[in-house]
Amino acid sequence: MVKIAPSMLAADFLHLEKDVKTVNENADLFHLDIMDGVFVPNISYGFPVVEAIASIAQKPMDVHLMIVHPEKYIERFARIGVSMLSFHLNATDKPAQALLHIRETGMKAGLVINPDMPVESLYPYLHLCDYIILMSVYAGFGGQKFIEDTYDRIRTLKAEIDRQELSVKIEVDGGVCPANASLLVEAGAEILVAGSAVFKSDDPAEVIASLRG
Ligand code: DX5
Ligand code: ZN
Repeated sequence: MVKIAPSMLAADFLHLEKDVKTVNENADLFHLDIMDGVFVPNISYGFPVVEAIASIAQKPMDVHLMIVHPEKYIERFARIGVSMLSFHLNATDKPAQALLHIRETGMKAGLVINPDMPVESLYPYLHLCDYIILMSVYAGFGGQKFIEDTYDRIRTLKAEIDRQELSVKIEVDGGVCPANASLLVEAGAEILVAGSAVFKSDDPAEVIASLRG
């Protein structure tokens, strides 16, 4: 069964508790986007917001780091109670070490790539990953248009995961909406991130239900 991870980047920050409740009651994971203005040309939010969400979250937190030196902050996210921590493959010189470190803390470890990075670049690290995030837009902003290439990239990655006899999950992030959700799942995605589709709608619960197909 597909897991739905609403991206809190699109939440209403003046009424954050309301949007946290929407996830608690209807979705499977909190997707939290951390941007530093260096790795990506945008700044989102940091520890105070993650801690506030953690204090009332009843679903696991899936943190997507879009920052340089992700390895510096692994322990801190673990202490907050984050369940899944991912970083971009090209954000550090030592991805294998960072993945191992994430797993040592008890969190699930994920690697992320942008749409212009070949999925083959992930292959040497798959055995160290619990999940992969394939970006279906360029990381940095919510509300962008879904890139259609993503279906083929999912299929290629899924075939390699099966070939290596691993159980790495594929998460898709960017421009996900009810119109493409079931195609993504058919291609092999097991976790869908959706920001604007969920929180910019009048009925987030209904959108989450329709993302499930
Ligand atoms: C983009 C972020 C996404 C984003 C998704 O850099 O990683 O998680 O918030 O937002 P939508 O669903 O609006 O594309
Ligand atoms: Zn994200």
